[in-house]
Amino acid sequence: MTHPAIALPTLIAHRGYSAAAPENTLAAVRAAHEAGTQWVELDVQLLGDGTPVIWHDADVARCSDGRGSLATLNWKQVQALDAGSWFSDRFAGEKMPSLEAMLALLNELDMGVNLEIKVNKGRDPIALVERVMPEVLAALPPERLIVSSFDATALRRCRELAPKEELALGVLFGSTPKDWRAQCEAVDAFSIHPHWPRLKRAQADAMIDAGYQLLCYTANDPGAFNSRWDWGIACAITDEPAIFQRFLDNQRL
Ligand code: G3P
Ligand code: MG
Repeated sequence: MTHPAIALPTLIAHRGYSAAAPENTLAAVRAAHEAGTQWVELDVQLLGDGTPVIWHDADVARCSDGRGSLATLNWKQVQALDAGSWFSDRFAGEKMPSLEAMLALLNELDMGVNLEIKVNKGRDPIALVERVMPEVLAALPPERLIVSSFDATALRRCRELAPKEELALGVLFGSTPKDWRAQCEAVDAFSIHPHWPRLKRAQADAMIDAGYQLLCYTANDPGAFNSRWDWGIACAITDEPAIFQRFLDNQRL
């Protein structure tokens, strides 16, 4: 049994190209595509009525003109929100995307996605995974999908729903825990997604030796990150894919 044959990119646009467009929106994914970045990281969670949406925070205050927690809002209510003007007037009227609309756009643009199962405080990981994963697995080929989470329960339920050869799973870590290996083995992980400033060289070596791809978040300064490529890091998850790409292109000259 092997993992899906994923051609890992060097860069993944974090929450879409979130330095150029409002995070986790269709516009942010289009912006990544226009910048030549073929993979995006996106966060998925459920509204109070069970609708899966692409959104990072537990509430809508920071990234829209409204208030309230996702756990209590319904689809009709969030569609009345402007999720673009907070970023720039150029994005006025941008909406919180449904998972369904986002999957359709990813397919239209033939893009890959690192979908983060975002289990905010007090939310149910099992309900989220069971609602989201059948839709995701039906829409995307395994070569264009990595599902990640900080939440071990969510990852375990994902693995129960799809075997290793049909679904690449990534384990997200802030600080690397002592039992990182057991956590990754428990879900047959494809990749480990460490917070790059906290990752030590010896930890990276051990993870790569154990066969895991390392996808580091969130790296926005390509000069500061640069030595990590020599460690064997596969990929940087970045808000600034164009700046990163320019830096890498210049290095190759
Ligand atoms: O998936 C990498 C990164 O997105 C994890 O942190 O808070 O930006 O979702 P956060
Ligand atoms: Mg995320």
